[in-house]
Amino acid sequence: MVEVKASLSERPFVSDTDQAKIGIVTVSDRASRGEYEDRGGPAILDYLSEVLSSDWTSVARIIPDELSTIIETLKELSDQEQCCLIVTTGGTGPAKRDITPEATLSVADKEMPGFGELMRKVSLEKVPTAILSRQTAVIRGGALIVNLPGQPKAIQECLDAVFPAIPYCIDLLEGPYLETNEERLVAFRPKKK
Ligand code: MTE
Repeated sequence: MVEVKASLSERPFVSDTDQAKIGIVTVSDRASRGEYEDRGGPAILDYLSEVLSSDWTSVARIIPDELSTIIETLKELSDQEQCCLIVTTGGTGPAKRDITPEATLSVADKEMPGFGELMRKVSLEKVPTAILSRQTAVIRGGALIVNLPGQPKAIQECLDAVFPAIPYCIDLLEGPYLETNEERLVAFRPKKK
């Protein structure tokens, strides 16, 4: 649980029961066996702590690159834990064991291809191998699931690109009202007609 950075009275439409729960899933054979320190999960946690000003909690998992385990974890975090946002890191590349996008697509109600398109576009301006990431995003029930590559540097680059649209996406899913530290990142919400 992270520090509460805004009082309830400052936030529209939010009650005590609307606290956002965010899933953080590190997909890595080596990190799941403890052979390698998980740096992706903590990088996502740090990013969210810096950017979000409304109240949220996280639920984190470190799992191997196994299709059935990734699918079970995504279902658990969306269906049982009721996360409004699930961010995965790792397993998006072309290597034999990289199957995070396949697992993500297999639990999807809807695919959200714009997320992968934008993350690859901004990442290609930084590193030519960004083209190797097959990262995508989907909706499952009330959860937006977003894939990120495993590199901690990639996490910030990708989230900076797509995060401005995430609070409104979660509004459309009737989830909690996410607010951001505007000096760090401004969430875009279209004006009501
Ligand atoms: N995107 C950004 N922004 N920065 C990076 O360093 N690395 C790329 C790519 N996307 C990278 C990136 C590389 S080298 C690979 S292999 C793919 O992401 C897949 O990474 P993953 O298998 O760890 O998910």
